[in-house]
Amino acid sequence: MAKNIIILKGSPRPMGNSAALADRLAQGVLDAGGSAESVYLNGMQIQPCDGCDACVPSGVCILEDDMQKLYPKLREAGGVVLASPIYWFTFSAQLKACIDRWYSLWQTDRDVFKGKPFGIILTYGDSDLYTSGGINAVHTFESMMRFLEANIEGWVYGSVSNPGDAQKDEKLMEQAYQLGQRLARKVSK
Ligand SMILES: Cc1cc2nc3c(=O)[nH]c(=O)nc-3n(C[C@H](O)[C@H](O)[C@H](O)COP(=O)(O)O)c2cc1C
Repeated sequence: MAKNIIILKGSPRPMGNSAALADRLAQGVLDAGGSAESVYLNGMQIQPCDGCDACVPSGVCILEDDMQKLYPKLREAGGVVLASPIYWFTFSAQLKACIDRWYSLWQTDRDVFKGKPFGIILTYGDSDLYTSGGINAVHTFESMMRFLEANIEGWVYGSVSNPGDAQKDEKLMEQAYQLGQRLARKVSK
């Protein structure tokens, strides 16, 4: 059976722009015969990494919160989608807190994300990737994926402000759908 694609939603707006694009991406995954699970990070208890390094020898994070439910899903996922609004010129704190906690996953398994396809969704209010600060998130994700030896399968990003704007942008929605289809195909190989 094809492995699951886990979609991390980093916006506090459950019906916002990045969530709408993430849902469209998920539909693309399903229509291509894959499976996807969305996780709304804002509703979860995810403490920031406290840098205690207890995970260094064990690979196990000692912080008892909702990351403990996410760790096995991330480990077993065939692909990962990161969906976030741009807040203050980069991706959201909700997503950053979650990603910081991947530190423990990587301690005893350097290959935890190796070769896995990633999809990135970014939404911002300003007019383009540069003025919005979206470019900072792009650079961060590129560095991260290089380090993890993961593959960025595709990007979906655009200027959309209010909830409902993304749904009106047919081109953006189609890009998200197509990325979902490509991810599903990659994961099934
Ligand atoms: C706290 C906050 C900070 C923001 N910072 C930026 C920013 O730095 N650059 C930008 O272009 N838009 C910024 N925005 C606008 C959002 O990125 C934009 O509305 C986006 O579409 C929201 O996506 P969402 O509906 O998925 O939450 C900010 C919005 C908020 C609430």
